[in-house]
Amino acid sequence: MSLHDRLEEIPASGIRRLFELASKYRDVISLGIGEPDCDTPEHIKDYAKEALDRGLTHYTPNNGLKELRDAISDKLKKENSFFADPEKEIIVTTGGNQAFLLIWASFLREGDEVLIPSPHFVTYSATVRLAGGVPVEVPLKMENGFRLTTDDLQRHLTDRTRAIVLNSPNNPTGAVLTEGEVRAAVEFAEEHCLRVVSDEVYEKLVYDGIRHVSPASVASEPGMVITVGSLSKTYAMTGWRIGYSAGPEELIARMVKFQMYLSACPTSFAQYAAARALSDPKSCAAIERMRSEYARRRELIYRRLLEMPGFRVVKPSGAFYIFPFVGNDISLSEKLLVEARVATVPGSTFGAAGRGHLRLAYTAPVERISEAMDRIEDVLNR
Ligand SMILES: Cc1ncc(COP(=O)(O)O)c(C=O)c1O
Repeated sequence: MSLHDRLEEIPASGIRRLFELASKYRDVISLGIGEPDCDTPEHIKDYAKEALDRGLTHYTPNNGLKELRDAISDKLKKENSFFADPEKEIIVTTGGNQAFLLIWASFLREGDEVLIPSPHFVTYSATVRLAGGVPVEVPLKMENGFRLTTDDLQRHLTDRTRAIVLNSPNNPTGAVLTEGEVRAAVEFAEEHCLRVVSDEVYEKLVYDGIRHVSPASVASEPGMVITVGSLSKTYAMTGWRIGYSAGPEELIARMVKFQMYLSACPTSFAQYAAARALSDPKSCAAIERMRSEYARRRELIYRRLLEMPGFRVVKPSGAFYIFPFVGNDISLSEKLLVEARVATVPGSTFGAAGRGHLRLAYTAPVERISEAMDRIEDVLNR
């Protein structure tokens, strides 16, 4: 099948559609789009300005600036407890999003299957299909806290299965895998010779003292895990489009070749600022301020949603999403936009297992979240 035909088969992003619909109404409180409401920390903006002044405005290597790959390698060693060679095992990508198509293209063949615990971030299934693979949803249940078990994986394993996606902290559920769950999933993958693609873009947004564990740090087979990271969410840098992947040399080499023909490289001065941001202690303080603010909002939104008539909800442990069960997600999401002027995303956007849920992003100030909850409650009580 041609790339054109595959593209025709893939639906447009439901989140973007909602964003466009919401722009038609006034005074909308957006709990829809998953993007930090805070500005990029000042010191990171200063680094980008400095890069511009120094004339760092040229193409960089296809795999990204050396300074940034070095900073990523240091970070992975210190924070994620695994080593990736900055020369051969790391690529800087145009946001974490771009990494997925590059990853699938680096090892999937036509008809290969990828297990995707679901509900899931929309990019995974779309990019697997674009690369000629078959996304296989592994449905997770709210009643089990959206936890992933090896029994779930086993039920969907076939002789065409090549990879498993892990996304912890999770978009859209906010679930965070425990170390035991990460180990079990990695052991399962090793036993069945599957690659693990681990999306860790929310790694620093965890609450209640929970620790994020990278699958690459517990794998005994080197090179079977491909880790995806990004500065978008944790550093409030969504528009800068800086992400990265770490994985085995032969896969990274193919990703670099693909990137050459896509964008050549991510934006040079954004890469420079990202390199400085990763190694500057000021970033830790800025991230902690943002994280504790999200933690405060999480308490509020969870408490308010618990009281909503007809809703069922589990408390998320990470990211900045909450995913209550509400009944008819598509009609309620529309009703809330039209009657309450609150933008949410229907859960079915995130796969069949998301049907009946709404995704709310607590990326608005506490007062606005509080007002959004009052408005939703009014509509539900009408
Ligand atoms: C789970 C997950 N992974 C990856 C991304 C990609 O983010 P970016 O391309 O901004 O790095 C997102 C963005 O929403 C996400 O939610």
